[in-house]
Amino acid sequence: MALKSCVSRSYRHLVESGVLPMAALSNYFNLEEITTARKISAAVINISGRQRMLSQRTAFFCMRLVCSQNGLERAKLRVNLLEAIELMEKSHRDLINTDSSINLVSSSSSTVKAMYFEAPLYLDKQIREYIDRIKALVQVPDAELMLENPHLLYIVEAAGGDLLEAFDAVVSQYQQESEIEQFEIDLKQVELYQESCAATSKAEAQAAQLDRALCELKQTQAQLLHSEKMSSLGALMASIVHEINNPVSFIYGNLSHAAIYTQDLLNLLCLYQECYPNPCPEITAKIEEIDLDFLVEDLPKVISSMRMGSNRIREIVKSMGNFSRTDNSNMTMCDLHDSIDSTVLILRNRLNSQIDRRDIQVIKNYGNLPPVECYSGQLNQVFMNLITNAIDALDDASQNEPYATLKISITTELAGPDRVRVRIADTGVGMTPQIKERMFEQFFTTKEIGKGTGLGLSIVYKILVENHRGTLRCESEPCKGTEFIIELPIQQT
Ligand SMILES: Nc1ncnc2c1ncn2[C@@H]1O[C@H](COP(=O)(O)OP(=O)(O)O)[C@@H](O)[C@H]1O
Ligand SMILES: [Mg+2]
Repeated sequence: MALKSCVSRSYRHLVESGVLPMAALSNYFNLEEITTARKISAAVINISGRQRMLSQRTAFFCMRLVCSQNGLERAKLRVNLLEAIELMEKSHRDLINTDSSINLVSSSSSTVKAMYFEAPLYLDKQIREYIDRIKALVQVPDAELMLENPHLLYIVEAAGGDLLEAFDAVVSQYQQESEIEQFEIDLKQVELYQESCAATSKAEAQAAQLDRALCELKQTQAQLLHSEKMSSLGALMASIVHEINNPVSFIYGNLSHAAIYTQDLLNLLCLYQECYPNPCPEITAKIEEIDLDFLVEDLPKVISSMRMGSNRIREIVKSMGNFSRTDNSNMTMCDLHDSIDSTVLILRNRLNSQIDRRDIQVIKNYGNLPPVECYSGQLNQVFMNLITNAIDALDDASQNEPYATLKISITTELAGPDRVRVRIADTGVGMTPQIKERMFEQFFTTKEIGKGTGLGLSIVYKILVENHRGTLRCESEPCKGTEFIIELPIQQT
């Protein structure tokens, strides 16, 4: 029973999941056929059992018919006998000819046929003879009914001997055949059950594979979007750099001339004051109006701070130029310090003090690094993501503890004859083991919507490990801070 319900459950599952088309399945496993087969064998066993029972009953009635002295009772017994015989004849016909109205549709086995129509049993002949004899006995007038009647003698002997044995043999044959058939059906069901299990696990594996493919597709799409954003940011920066470069060069280039010219003019003014110590009142009034002493003292300072400012602009423009190099098709030999410096400069605004936070100190401990073969644009992206995460962690730390040390240390060193190491450490909020375990997962973020995408570290990992044969490790402790340790081969080949 359990097996059957299991079979039909997995059968339904298979059909619903489309693994086995309905038609193929019905060929293989026909529940109706099995039920019909069961009904037939039950009916056959029933009918043949009834035949046996009828033969015994009719023999008993015949005895009573002969022994009874009561006319009425004899008449009743004659009717009973005729009814029983009619039933026996009909059952016999059914078994021999098969009859769909009582579920007898399949023909008997060759063994059963031999039992009916061949020696030694020849049951068909025995039954017909037996029925004829009873019909004959029923016809005998009351006066002639006696124990020596040859029909009665035949009937009694058959019912207790050959006929009974023949019935027993046929019933047991029917039973055996039914058991074998049942066993075959069970076997078929077990086989189907096993097949359905295999098909189910195959379907499940296929579904899991589909899930994985879908997930990968989603990730690739997200990464594509991200790198698309990065490259348009790069292109935008490149065009800004191009536009700003010339005017900045004018200012920077002319500042040194302006400094010399003003110094010359100031010297000339001194000379005038020496040669004409008593200027006319108009000039004296003007000197007072413009506060000449202060002007003379301040002008060089103004020029030097203009020089500092334009220097700063030049640096930023240079960094933007570095950063906008997003050439992904060719590896080049790059100075990692340039890349880090550019990133820090571009993030300057976020490092400076904010309304609710003090300055973040960036401490650079640069070692002596050779140029490293890499996709420079991609490495810029790595430093950008790691330093941005560090700033976010420091923002959070400052929220929790306003006087917390806000520091990012960037250390570079050789990690062997052919490898370099970059360590980016912050004194931010750090990570719990649960966050650390999931940080490289795509779309995993602990930041609010709009601030975190959960893409940064997964991209960093892909760039370093897959694209540059590097490694990425992380050490982090809640409330203490986090350190990311990058190692890269100097040469890719
Ligand atoms: N320096 C860090 N300090 C503390 N937590 C960090 C740091 N870097 C990354 N994380 C954690 O890892 C998560 C995933 O980072 P990331 O992939 O860059 O996505 P996002 O920055 O968009 O959240 C962050 O949300 C944060 O919880
Ligand atoms: Mg991030």
